Amino acid sequence: MNKEIVLTGIKPTGTPHLGNYVGALKPLIEQSRNHKTYIFIADLHALNIIKDPQEIKRHTYEIAAIMMSLGLDVNNSVLFKQSDIVQVYQLATLLMNVTPKGLMNRAHSYKAAIDKNIAAGLDEDAGINMGLYTYPILMAADILLYDTDVVPVGADQKQHVEFARDIAGYFNHIYGKTFKLPESIIGESTGIIPGLDGRKMSKSYDNIIPLLAPEAELKKKIMRIITDSKLPEESKDPDTSTIFQLYKHFASDVEIEEFRQQFLSGGMGYGTAKTILFDKINSVLSKPRAEYERLMMNPSEIDKVLETGAQKARIVAEKTLARVMKVMLGK
Ligand code: ADP
Ligand code: TRP
Repeated sequence: MNKEIVLTGIKPTGTPHLGNYVGALKPLIEQSRNHKTYIFIADLHALNIIKDPQEIKRHTYEIAAIMMSLGLDVNNSVLFKQSDIVQVYQLATLLMNVTPKGLMNRAHSYKAAIDKNIAAGLDEDAGINMGLYTYPILMAADILLYDTDVVPVGADQKQHVEFARDIAGYFNHIYGKTFKLPESIIGESTGIIPGLDGRKMSKSYDNIIPLLAPEAELKKKIMRIITDSKLPEESKDPDTSTIFQLYKHFASDVEIEEFRQQFLSGGMGYGTAKTILFDKINSVLSKPRAEYERLMMNPSEIDKVLETGAQKARIVAEKTLARVMKVMLGK
């Protein structure tokens, strides 16, 4: 087992989709086979957006059940809820004192919120809460609390990991080496998975195919993928087809090549191609889906795993916080 500590957070703000699976969840599960991996559900980070506790709770269970049913080794990795570890709130407050305000002003997500307000003719800080403004500090606390070496994230989170590294650097400069300096790994190798309309699959575009939706819903969504109007007999370009781009991530090399040839040679209509895609995705996901549905009917099993995860995470969190309290407050 590699000694590096890997950590990532997943925000419970939506139902995970095929893009999340290919771009983030699947690589994470593979990584957890040979690294000590902390995966937490970032429910505190959801608070600046979602005000309904039941919604946060539902997405939290969904994410935990998805990770468990996709085969995350819960003995080798630590799956927990961010809010279960009080030390993270404490560390975030302490880190505020070494974090320059200017750093927060430069955060892409905060700047994007300001730009949106200005474009709408509103006050630049309209609707922006301190949870959004200090989001990177809480995220730095997440990362630094567990002595993390690497943080696998999507490209949009790279700046946040750099901020965590900066904050650790400022802290170490004042108080002596207390924190490891974390690095991000950006999951670009899988590329961007297109959604129903051909744009990036994203909950913000309302074009998603949910990862473990019931079979009938999966089929309905796949049949709704937008295509061009080529006739069955015409040759089609696999590389610009959403159907083929999705198929690539679920089939074997031989199957992919065969499907490619069917696209190029003509003779296969998009309806048939969608049925082939559905059968493939369904065959890969039907077992995890059954397990997912079972777990969602038995939330106490999910609670147990999250509680065991929290106990393991707490051991490290307590040590780190004690180290910080000692150097900052002489405690
Ligand atoms: P969304 O765009 O639906 O809001 P998130 O931003 O919450 O998704 O993404 C969570 C993770 O899933 C990130 O690591 C991101 O890189 C990955 N991801 C999301 N959408 C895609 C996609 N269409 N293709 C590949 N990876 C994706
Ligand atoms: N901010 C991340 C997102 O929006 C989620 C997250 C919270 C996270 N804390 C983290 C990711 C720590 C990696 C490490 O997707």
